[in-house]
Amino acid sequence: MAISCLHVAGYRSVLDVRLKLSQVNVLIGPNGCGKSNLYRGLYLLAAAAEGRLARTLGDEGGMPSVLWAGERAKGPVRMTVGVQVDALEYELSCGLMPPVPGGSMFDLDPHVKEERIRLVAGTKRTEIMKRDNATASVRDDQGIRVTFPMVLPESESVLAEIREPHRFPILSMVRQEFLSWRFYHQFRTDSDSPLRHPQVGVRTPVLSHDGRDLAAALQTIIEVGDHGTLRVALDRMFPGCELIVESIQSRFTLSLRMPEFRRPFEAQDFSDGTLQYLCLLAVLLSPRPPSLLALNEPETSIHPDLIGPLANLIVRASRYSQVWITTHSQALADAITKETGTAPIRLEKVGGETKVVRDDEE
Ligand SMILES: Nc1ncnc2c1ncn2[C@@H]1O[C@H](COP(=O)(O)OP(=O)(O)OP(=O)(O)O)[C@@H](O)[C@H]1O
Ligand SMILES: [Mg+2]
Repeated sequence: MAISCLHVAGYRSVLDVRLKLSQVNVLIGPNGCGKSNLYRGLYLLAAAAEGRLARTLGDEGGMPSVLWAGERAKGPVRMTVGVQVDALEYELSCGLMPPVPGGSMFDLDPHVKEERIRLVAGTKRTEIMKRDNATASVRDDQGIRVTFPMVLPESESVLAEIREPHRFPILSMVRQEFLSWRFYHQFRTDSDSPLRHPQVGVRTPVLSHDGRDLAAALQTIIEVGDHGTLRVALDRMFPGCELIVESIQSRFTLSLRMPEFRRPFEAQDFSDGTLQYLCLLAVLLSPRPPSLLALNEPETSIHPDLIGPLANLIVRASRYSQVWITTHSQALADAITKETGTAPIRLEKVGGETKVVRDDEE
């Protein structure tokens, strides 16, 4: 499934942005223009499907701090995130918790006001699910409109409450889709990072979000993935190098043998950029590609010489996954555009508000 449109409104610096998405989406713009806010907006949908909407917004400071802080039109204070995925539109709107008799300490939680799934056919829209506060009306597997059989938690999505997936196949499909998206925000490369230490190895077709199972993920590519492309990509970083994954008492260690040195270097010795590049290889060559792969600033610590190979790998990954990249690297954006013909999405901040610079201004 592919996302054709993302709509975020009232969330952090994003007062109202609608993005048409392609197979490869590169978001570029100056510091603080809202690249990560849009990335987070998308991530909120995955969090909602998992039942972690309140927790995720809590990690950002809670509902009052994520709501657009600038001037707003009169009317209810809302934050909305929505997508169109193939022929399905999904939208979630939250606001602040209403006061409760006796009071509650959970006033940072989001209060889900509305949630909706619609089936799109041309200009026609058929409502599949419509939630108002704690109740939702849903079309079941027979197409009959019924009341959703659970009282909905006020700070979580309907999607996280599906107990009978066969009875609500479209809801279940939307949930599965959001859960299948993969996000990589940042890989820790400091000396205490788990990436630098041996980890118990099991077959790992999907690198964990923090990259802690890097050695196992690379070994999985070597055994069942595109080892050839991995080897070529490694060679672009260190010509003639050899990647060594060893299992010592079931813990996988990673090292690199360089032609110039007698002993291999272990993960503790790797530079930050080397670790970052290895993580990107594990992500982009995953033997189980997701439907959406979102990477925040993948060029971090990467030398300009590796930007070309990185762009090649991103474009290669886009054969199997829709790709979302936020970046500061014009060179990366240009290299991806050159290969795909898709222009980057350029963002700017105007009066504190994230705006898309329209293509015709480029
Ligand atoms: N509630 C809010 N209302 C309005 N603006 C906000 C709110 N919360 C955060 N912001 C603004 O969002 C901006 C940060 O956006 P974001 O993190 O998406 O930037 P970015 O483009 O990813 O920048 P960088 O390249 O530095 O990572 C900050 O300038 C901050 O002032
Ligand atoms: Mg950012």
